[in-house]
This record gives sequence, structure tokens and C-alpha cells, in this order.
Amino acid sequence: MLSAVRVVSLLLLLVLGGVWAYAWATRAPGEGVAEAFAGRIGRLFGAEMPVPSAGGVQLAQGVSLGGPFNLTDHTGRAVTERDFAGRWMLVYFGFTYCPDVCPTELGTMAAALDAMGPAGEAVVPVLITVDPERDGPAQLADYVSRFHPRLVGLTGTPEQVADAARRYRVYYAKARRSEMTDYLVDHSGFTYLVGPDSRVRTPFRPGTSPEAMAAAVSAQLANRSAATR
Ligand code: NI
Repeated sequence: MLSAVRVVSLLLLLVLGGVWAYAWATRAPGEGVAEAFAGRIGRLFGAEMPVPSAGGVQLAQGVSLGGPFNLTDHTGRAVTERDFAGRWMLVYFGFTYCPDVCPTELGTMAAALDAMGPAGEAVVPVLITVDPERDGPAQLADYVSRFHPRLVGLTGTPEQVADAARRYRVYYAKARRSEMTDYLVDHSGFTYLVGPDSRVRTPFRPGTSPEAMAAAVSAQLANRSAATR
């Protein structure tokens, strides 16, 4: 005899299988099956699924990232989000010992700002370290100067960094590779466009091109000036 749990599990599997087939059949050109499946499941449960935009990812309704932080900049000055209030920021969480992803993403951020020309000067590029033990102000100062003359490096106590990361839903964790004496830090690699109210407007996936990032940031800035006109 089938128990209720088995029946429910079986029904759930059938529904999920059905949705998968439906997603496969109705996915947009270029859309992966998994992506389409997530979208259909989201719709099934009434969730507002993020709609991908040019170079960026739309935040779901009601999701608010960013906000207050207490950190120290690469000149050793204590700073909070209020020091950046009224300004746009591009924020990336990473660390100076990162062998590949961080340099690539910071290079993208710098190239995007440069591609925007004078309009790019309205945006403050920011690196928040997820490795505060090794990334003190002096270490950050040397590192940020390699990417962009205006790039601001932020560090803090492990608690301050953890608090900032939590507000951006950034994951990070120390990782030891057996063949290495030093540790690495695994971390999520999104770049965040932050509005003048310290809230994230657009998260950019790692691997976004400088052109796509520049276009999306320019569009947000133009939106903003149209709204305040
Ligand atoms: Ni990295």
C-alpha cells in the first residue's frame, strides 16, 4: 500500500517533470533548460522572477541589497555609506591575493567607467575586501592603484566586513588548497551598481563585458536624471 508521503512525493515528481518538459518546449531561443525551468517554477509559485536586462540582472520585487556599512578606506580613514550618499557606486567584493577572478572583474569595472567618458565620473568604483586579515589599508592602496585612479579600497574588522557582505548577500569563505601554503578566499563575484540612496540597483554577473556594464550603468544614470528633471 502506498503511504500518503509516497503519493505526495510521486505527484510532486510528476508535476516537476511536467514543468521541466514544458520549460524545455517553451524556452526562449538561447535560454537554457535549467533557466527556463527556474522561471516556470517561479511563476508556478507566484514568485516574481528576475528578468535579465542588458548586462545586468533585475532584482526581484521587494529584494533590497546594500545599505549601511562601517569600514576603513585605503587611506586609513573611517567611512560609512553616508560618505557616499548622493553618489552612484560600483561595488565589488574581493581580495587582493585573488589569482584571477577579482583582477578580471575589477578590470571590467575600470574599463566600463572609462568607456562612459565624463559621465563615468559620477560613479565611485569601490572594492570591499573579503580578506580583512591580509588586506589592510596599505595593501589595498597599492592594489587599487593598479586598476583605476579613483578606485576606493575598503576594509575593516572581520565583523564589519561580514556585516557589509551580509547586506549585499555576498558569500565568502577561506579555502585552503593542499598544494598552497597561503589560503584563498572563495567568494561570490557580482559587481553591484549602487544608487545615491546606498541601495543596489543592478547586480552584474561575473563575466559581464565592460560594454554591457557601461550601457546598463549609463541607462540607470539617465533614468535617474529624467526622473528628477
Ligand atoms: Ni576573487
